[in-house]
Amino acid sequence: MDFHLTEEQELIRKTAREFAEKHLAPGVITRDEKAEFPAQQVKMMGELGFMGMMVPEKWNGAGLDAVSYVIAIEEISRVDASAGVIMSVNNSLVCQIFVEWANEQQCKKYLTRLATGELLGAFSLSEPQSGSDASNMRTIAVKDGDSYVLNGTKNWVTNGINSDLVLVFAITQKGIGYKGISAFIVEKGTPGFSTGKKEDKLGIRGSDTCELYFEDCRVPAGNLIGEEGLGFRIALHTLDGGRIGIASQALGIAKAALDHSIEYAKERKQFGKPIAQFGAIQSKIARMATRIEAARLLIWQAAKLKDEHKSYVKEASMAKLFASQTAVDAARDCVQIHGGYGYMQEYGVERLMRDAKITQIYEGTSEIQEMVIAREVLKGSA
Ligand code: CAA
Repeated sequence: MDFHLTEEQELIRKTAREFAEKHLAPGVITRDEKAEFPAQQVKMMGELGFMGMMVPEKWNGAGLDAVSYVIAIEEISRVDASAGVIMSVNNSLVCQIFVEWANEQQCKKYLTRLATGELLGAFSLSEPQSGSDASNMRTIAVKDGDSYVLNGTKNWVTNGINSDLVLVFAITQKGIGYKGISAFIVEKGTPGFSTGKKEDKLGIRGSDTCELYFEDCRVPAGNLIGEEGLGFRIALHTLDGGRIGIASQALGIAKAALDHSIEYAKERKQFGKPIAQFGAIQSKIARMATRIEAARLLIWQAAKLKDEHKSYVKEASMAKLFASQTAVDAARDCVQIHGGYGYMQEYGVERLMRDAKITQIYEGTSEIQEMVIAREVLKGSA
């Protein structure tokens, strides 16, 4: 495997890093405190091509590969993990469903605008009673003439409030389990579709999360994606790509923890010398640095397999499982290295600890990633 980035990939890293330092770093602590959505910055990310990175140019996307995409997500999340998840959901869950499953008309109408950041998308699979057991949903969509009528409640929808459209998974045929699930495009403002309150979260507070309610919500039949019954396959296949995005978000958080730790350990003096000279600190920094490299390699491997149109189910889950644990551990050690200062909000490192945790939960908990990996390994694809 070639570990070298192309000139274009290096340029993407540089552009994403400069953008993040210049436009996301200022105000990141306040946005976290006040749970403010970075609306202006998301628009700018759209202008840079970051909201539709893997969308073909034909649909106004940047036409880039998955390796470029994970590099950009890492850099954005290194500064602001909330911006990282907003970008990840729009790219890997929403745009990608259009690219792989939607028809020309749907792509023309929506994807061309999602890819530029003119529209923001959300993906809505989970329900109050179904998180990990995703197919156990109750939201139903009943065909009525040339429309479907949706009823149900969705949970924990990232971008739910600020999005212009939501991809909704609902049952079109009862009694046949996941084979009866279908996927729909639902525009904001459709009568019968409303959003709940913005959830008050532990971390990634700059991104919005909410419930969605569908009460006799009539959606044109032309908004069905693919065919009836394909919904669950669409969701799981898409989540494989999403997991690479979240793994990269976790990697960005871990890298931020390492960078802050190095800077502080070199500056902070105790017992007459910089704390970087103490073995206990060096051990934490060495572990962080090693695991970050390992996480990056797992992520790049999965992204490369995706680019080569090969199966990457196991590799995406491994990347997410490992990168999210790395982020949680690195952020905790970063706070420890900072001591009392690390516990204070103004140093910006306690936020890393809060932001890191979600990467072990959404787009499949660590327990689900282990289940997916074990299934793949046991069926002999290891
Ligand atoms: N790609 C495509 N199809 C897949 C697939 C994949 N990776 N994995 C399974 N399938 C197919 C199977 O082949 C099967 O279809 P066929 O019968 O046609 O072959 C069908 O899907 C059902 O598969 P399973 O029997 O394996 O399904 P399961 O009910 O046992 O569930 C699971 C498997 C891995 C546990 C799955 O439910 C899962 O991933 N759960 C976690 C849900 C999740 O990640 N939710 C995230 C919510 S979105 C989010 O978090 C976004 C955000 O806010 C940031």
